[in-house]
Amino acid sequence: MNAAFLERAMHEAGELASLPQTFAEVLRVLRDERSSADQLARVLMKDPPLTAKVLRMANSPIYGTGQKIGSMIQAIRVLGDRQVTALALSTTVYDMTQDWLSSLDRMRFWRHALETAIASRMIGESLGRKSTEELFLAGLLHDLGLLVLEKMEPKEFARIWNEAGKEGGFVGMEYQLWGTTHAEIGGYLLRKWYLPEGICQPVDQHHNGAILDQTEPDLVPSQILMLGHMISKFTIAPERELNTDALLATESLRSALGIPAGQLVDIERDLTSTTMAEADYLEMNIGTIDDLLLEANRLLFEQSVAAERLANENLRLRRRLQKQQADAESVT
Ligand SMILES: [Fe+2]
Ligand SMILES: [Fe+2]
Repeated sequence: MNAAFLERAMHEAGELASLPQTFAEVLRVLRDERSSADQLARVLMKDPPLTAKVLRMANSPIYGTGQKIGSMIQAIRVLGDRQVTALALSTTVYDMTQDWLSSLDRMRFWRHALETAIASRMIGESLGRKSTEELFLAGLLHDLGLLVLEKMEPKEFARIWNEAGKEGGFVGMEYQLWGTTHAEIGGYLLRKWYLPEGICQPVDQHHNGAILDQTEPDLVPSQILMLGHMISKFTIAPERELNTDALLATESLRSALGIPAGQLVDIERDLTSTTMAEADYLEMNIGTIDDLLLEANRLLFEQSVAAERLANENLRLRRRLQKQQADAESVT
């Protein structure tokens, strides 16, 4: 980790490093154990457009509360303070990054983020974990460091982004160039915002290959996010291809987390339609249904090509092993 670079990143990222005033207050109220639902509602209501959005989301059929939620305090009582904060934070960060100049395709960025958020939440639910809204937020914010880096070093960023689009290995290039990665920058930024460690640590670790097959309970949220990111079909870079390493990494994470293969297939199957539905109620622009279906089909095709490549490689290795055994037997 390059601490000086991280500090500079926070400094130069300007408005990114500091959340809007309302939100900083929301997080302060949440940290204070003596604070009440009333206090949280009062702080959130200082921002009327945010309040209106949260109420629209709280009334969406996705929550199926069966009641008409007409006020912030009611939303907090019905959905819980963490859920309401998660909704408010999602929309705050989404809105504040919308008008930054960027060579990254913002629609693709949020599409991947939202899909990863939903995948991580679904994986968490399938494992019976409690704080699934933290997993959702970790997913939504996991690549935020990319936007910071891009803002900070636009030329170098564009160069390695394009290079990696063809060759892969973006994270290695970041490390070589800056001694840190977008994952570490994202984790650092979220810690500056005083978000819980259950969000910061997974963001920080989401490209750390060393945790793939660990069975440490503390690493589970990080592994869930990593798996959520791996099974996200919508990538940020349009030309990025799936490779066999990604399939092997997915398999290691699945088995380390103890998720039955069939269960992960079910999650992957529902991911695209759930992402489309939730983008709608979160009021995020992630493209038209046609775009999404086209993209999902393209990636499914790539996945099957990668799987075939892996099967061929296995067969080749097995044949080589058999031949070596036969040769060894003929010698003895
Ligand atoms: Fe990433
Ligand atoms: Fe990602």
